Amino acid sequence: MARGLKEGLTNYGDADFSLFLRKAFIKAMGYSDDALDRPIVGVTNTASDYNPCHGNVPDLIESVKRGIMLSGSLPMVFPTISIHESFAHPTSMFLRNLMAMDTEEMIRAQPMDAVVVIGGCDKTLPAEAMAIASNDVPAIVVPTGPMGVGNYKGEALGACTDCRRLWAQHRAGGVDKAEIDVIGGRLVPTVGTCGVMGTASTMACLMEALGLALPMSATAPATHAERRRIAEASGKRAAEMAIAGSPKPSSLITQASVRNAMIVLQAIGGSTNGLIHLIAIAGRAGVKVDSDEFDRLGREIPVLLNLKPTGTGYMEDFHHAGGLPALMRELSSFLDLEAPSVSGGTLGDSIADAEVVPGQDVIRSFAAPQTKAGAMAILRGTLAPRGAVIKQSAASPGLMRHTGRAVVFDSLEDMATRIDLPELDVNADDVLVLRNAGPKGAPGMPEAGCLPIPMKLARMGVKDMVRISDARMSGTAFGTIVLHVTPEAAVGGPLAVVQTGDRIMLDVEARRIELLLDDVEIDRRLAAWKEQPPRREGATRGYQKLYEDCVLQADQGCDFDFLLGEGLVTMKAGNS
Ligand code: FES
Repeated sequence: MARGLKEGLTNYGDADFSLFLRKAFIKAMGYSDDALDRPIVGVTNTASDYNPCHGNVPDLIESVKRGIMLSGSLPMVFPTISIHESFAHPTSMFLRNLMAMDTEEMIRAQPMDAVVVIGGCDKTLPAEAMAIASNDVPAIVVPTGPMGVGNYKGEALGACTDCRRLWAQHRAGGVDKAEIDVIGGRLVPTVGTCGVMGTASTMACLMEALGLALPMSATAPATHAERRRIAEASGKRAAEMAIAGSPKPSSLITQASVRNAMIVLQAIGGSTNGLIHLIAIAGRAGVKVDSDEFDRLGREIPVLLNLKPTGTGYMEDFHHAGGLPALMRELSSFLDLEAPSVSGGTLGDSIADAEVVPGQDVIRSFAAPQTKAGAMAILRGTLAPRGAVIKQSAASPGLMRHTGRAVVFDSLEDMATRIDLPELDVNADDVLVLRNAGPKGAPGMPEAGCLPIPMKLARMGVKDMVRISDARMSGTAFGTIVLHVTPEAAVGGPLAVVQTGDRIMLDVEARRIELLLDDVEIDRRLAAWKEQPPRREGATRGYQKLYEDCVLQADQGCDFDFLLGEGLVTMKAGNS
């Protein structure tokens, strides 16, 4: 098999000429024949002026390159798309699959014997993991690492749980304009990813749990020297993998490692987005995530991590408490410890080396967990025939079983227009419903599922209500919020026909989410909806058209239908 520069030659119809030309051009960069005869390790460059979560990527690239060269291989850095949460219109999720395709194809198109993918902000690690699962070149993931912790008037602050909490206080009149401006300058004190157990931290943990990243990769702070040493070690390891030709992602992303990742996702109090991304990553490798199994695990595995938004700590605290290996030691009786890791050993080896930190209160034991149940529960019922998810660890115990009157918002625009109107007919025990905010509906499944508490109720001190939507929410958010209702309203899920005044029942213990109407009435309404579904102007060109034509529902990871791994079947958009 061709290796190094000889790999994947440009097709001119004369392989020798193709190699001659390739060498001639690359020599313009000053490379010697010795360098060009080495195995090649590609390194993704996801630095961008628009992406502060990747602000340390240039430093990490230097460290990765050092590790590669110390091992006698040639690093080749190449750019890919970079996505930051707050700089992506309409949503970062809309662009995740584009980044996955870009990364996959650039790895395929250019000669490399192994690749180091560097990412961090929410959608970037999932996109990169989807890419490496699809092209199956030996690969190692280097997360950018969590940002530092800010401070305001003696209180620790971290994006973005505290962004939301303090903004809610500002809306309710408890924090004035001058104060919120000062807070805005302190919430993100360094480069790196959000410092709580949001989506970025969740995905970094899942990279370790899947065996795609070296131990401690998930938690070392973005600005610490240790982060750069992990990058160097990852470069060294990638060079070894380039020579050995293994392990490949297909030997790492397996039923066993995906189950390990599900266990970790429950135990860390992970982001609901983590479930969608895990389904998508596993799907690329032809592994199906069984949501019923995930739910069962949630009944057995408590949240063991005392981190925001479920607890009080920050990612830096988690790192100092021993990081993911120490957490997985607590979970070892549930995990498949034989699952291989990109480190060259097994998951069990990573756990065996975990640090023991006396007196730490971040990683809890089974005997004294952070919450009794796991992070998430999968709900089903007449409102969500193919499922919905609730992050029960960040919900209000008093609302976990609740029946209330639906107050329906037809779209994000409708919600923005009406939610704060003084005349809005809404009470604290109503159920707020947002629809047409799913994968196709918005499009891009915005993180709008954490509907704001209507202003008049917020000012009366209401802090939580049951909220239901086909949207996602940030992993840093909290509340009794039912998300990813599938099928979404835009493709004719029952959410499309809920009317203000209908009764909705949520029962998390029973895993039910029910529209309290008889089946005949629901069918009648759905038939009428199908006769005349509200039409949004669909895209006619470009990536948006590709997205709208091909995106799957949340229970299939919102991947594109033509990118699923071998053996997985695209489900129809409808209810079954
Ligand atoms: Fe990038 Fe939170 S905004 S990780």
